[in-house]
Amino acid sequence: MRIAFLGGGNMAAALIGGLVAKGTDTRSISVVEVSPAARERLGARFPVHVATAPDAAMQRADVVVLAVKPQDAKSALASIAVQQQQLVISIAAGLTLKTLSRWLGGHRKLVRCMPNTPALIGAGIAALYALPEVSDEEKKKAETILSAAGEAVWVPEERLLDPVTAVSGNGPAYVFWMMEQLAAAGEKLGLQKEVAHKLALHTILGAAKLAASSGEPPATLRKNVTSKGGTTEAALKVFEEEKLAERLLRAIEAGSRRATEMGEELGKDQGKD
Ligand SMILES: NC(=O)c1ccc[n+]([C@@H]2O[C@H](COP(=O)([O-])OP(=O)(O)OC[C@H]3O[C@@H](n4cnc5c(N)ncnc54)[C@H](OP(=O)(O)O)[C@@H]3O)[C@@H](O)[C@H]2O)c1
Repeated sequence: MRIAFLGGGNMAAALIGGLVAKGTDTRSISVVEVSPAARERLGARFPVHVATAPDAAMQRADVVVLAVKPQDAKSALASIAVQQQQLVISIAAGLTLKTLSRWLGGHRKLVRCMPNTPALIGAGIAALYALPEVSDEEKKKAETILSAAGEAVWVPEERLLDPVTAVSGNGPAYVFWMMEQLAAAGEKLGLQKEVAHKLALHTILGAAKLAASSGEPPATLRKNVTSKGGTTEAALKVFEEEKLAERLLRAIEAGSRRATEMGEELGKDQGKD
């Protein structure tokens, strides 16, 4: 599979790094990147073909990965002459397939993805949606590329990428917030700052690793460590009294609504040709 990246910034580098680590031949990867600094960074990390503008490698690619910022997507796509058989995968947040297809003159071999920042260390999770015109074989190709930087899951409807944005796209920020709160609470209760931070970080890291390696759902793992009349129960009871689950749901709903609005704004602002 020949892959051409349109945009060679952080996300493209994360995907290329994952693909190369998994044995993809670097000769099958090409990149078009307008920024000299990003071109230099990429060239120093990987022996891949990096061009300043779309060239023959882009024309020959089986898959084109759109990896520029959403506001640069329209002009980036205008610079390529997409081939009918090429699969285009967009990782640009918020840009709908309807908008992308219009910018590509009605092209329908399109996949849209929502990755997240842990992809930068190979620990991301991306959700993908494909238009019906994308074959199973092409979906496999998209999954191979996105799972190079972590896990990949499919959603059956494009609109579900908005809740995905609110859950896993924004999710790392919620976890960082939880880490901050745990550390701050530890400090308030008398722990040294560094100790409280280390406890918070490794608790979240350890709990996530335990949940990932155990076959049990998180609710069972939680019950396993909550003894009757014990310390965990005392803390979790306050979560319940304060209705933390309902509040978290409201926060995630707000994130999802905002993702929908931003997609609409992006389509509107950039919709005019
Ligand atoms: N980073 C994340 O964790 C994350 C998570 C989810 C989704 N995403 C999505 O992933 C996409 C890429 O994000 P990123 O963090 O990798 O951005 P980035 O580091 O800014 O990379 C984009 C690169 O594309 C270059 N570029 C702009 N216009 C171009 C054109 N016409 N042709 C070729 N290259 C062009 C940019 O150069 P200039 O800087 O000179 O403009 C920049 O070097 C975004 O759409 C974002 O929404 C990112």
